[in-house]
Amino acid sequence: MAEASRVLVTGGAGFIGSHVAEMYLAEGFQVTVLDDLSSGRRENVPAAATFVHADVASPETRRLVGRGGFTLVNHHAAQMDVRVSVRDPAFDARTNILGLLNLLEGGREGGVRRFVFASSGGVVYGESDRLPHPESAPKLPVSPYGVSKLASEYYLSAYAKLYGLDVISLRYANVYGPRQNPHGEAGVVAIFGSRLHRREPLTIHGDGSQTRDYVYVGDVVTANHAATHWRVPGVGTLNDVAFNVGTGIETSVNQLAQAMLDATGVSVPIQHAPARAGELRRSAVSVERAAREWDWRPGCSLREGLKLTYEWIVEDAA
Ligand SMILES: NC(=O)c1ccc[n+]([C@@H]2O[C@H](COP(=O)([O-])OP(=O)(O)OC[C@H]3O[C@@H](n4cnc5c(N)ncnc54)[C@H](O)[C@@H]3O)[C@@H](O)[C@H]2O)c1
Repeated sequence: MAEASRVLVTGGAGFIGSHVAEMYLAEGFQVTVLDDLSSGRRENVPAAATFVHADVASPETRRLVGRGGFTLVNHHAAQMDVRVSVRDPAFDARTNILGLLNLLEGGREGGVRRFVFASSGGVVYGESDRLPHPESAPKLPVSPYGVSKLASEYYLSAYAKLYGLDVISLRYANVYGPRQNPHGEAGVVAIFGSRLHRREPLTIHGDGSQTRDYVYVGDVVTANHAATHWRVPGVGTLNDVAFNVGTGIETSVNQLAQAMLDATGVSVPIQHAPARAGELRRSAVSVERAAREWDWRPGCSLREGLKLTYEWIVEDAA
């Protein structure tokens, strides 16, 4: 996609978006980061990117995208707290659904050619013991946040059909790494990391056998790179333009806590607290499709990724 020299990265002051923005800069793109700094940090925005402080759902954003110049939008801005979405589903929908529509409509006026969208493999699929989920697994989000991610994928596919837009949805597993904040879907790594740094006990809710699929942010960046350059086929079903981005490996919270102790060499007690209501018991996504279509594979082991993340937590706290 040689012509896509200007990219808008929404949520680029956040954890994943800031790493993605760095990748585009390294590739020679002109990068504009749009973020309202509600959970992101100004210092995460790479110095070489243009920064626009705005809400994705605002008229200002619509004008920015509508003015033209961006051939690619990489959309990472979101309300991403499941509990907030349950408490205030309209707020979730305003950011996640109306924000997306604002970008899509602006993009239609401004000649955007491609959308890469950060969806979630942790919330769009129904609960099942047949893991890891392939992209074709039944969808049944059980939170308004999950509904807003799945609805966004449907809107993107509709715009692909209506206007010939190239769309790709990346269904992330639980992403962890430097710059992660404790509120995200893989927030447990950041929480455990800060507690290790303060030499406090790690608290596990429930019996710790609940599993997640932890993918390092560097691997998520290479998936965004692949999505940016992929020759997008026609959209027959939602899954034709969706890719899981994870490892396919289930790691229990007990295993994660032990892996963090091992990777950091820090020793603190592990304590248990009552289980949290409404938590998914198991989750993992199959990455065979990305391997087949893109030759993409997660390259960073959990041990190495946890080590890199902990080094950043220590540095950030200093
Ligand atoms: N972290 C994960 O494990 C995970 C898993 C699945 C999907 N995702 C998705 O990846 C994306 C990035 O997540 P992250 O973990 O980097 O979280 P993050 O909170 O670090 O990043 C989100 C960014 O969006 C910004 N933002 C929020 N609302 C906004 C608004 N209305 N207008 C403009 N900017 C706004 C925030 O300030 C923040 O910088 C999100 O779309 C999230 O749903 C993340």
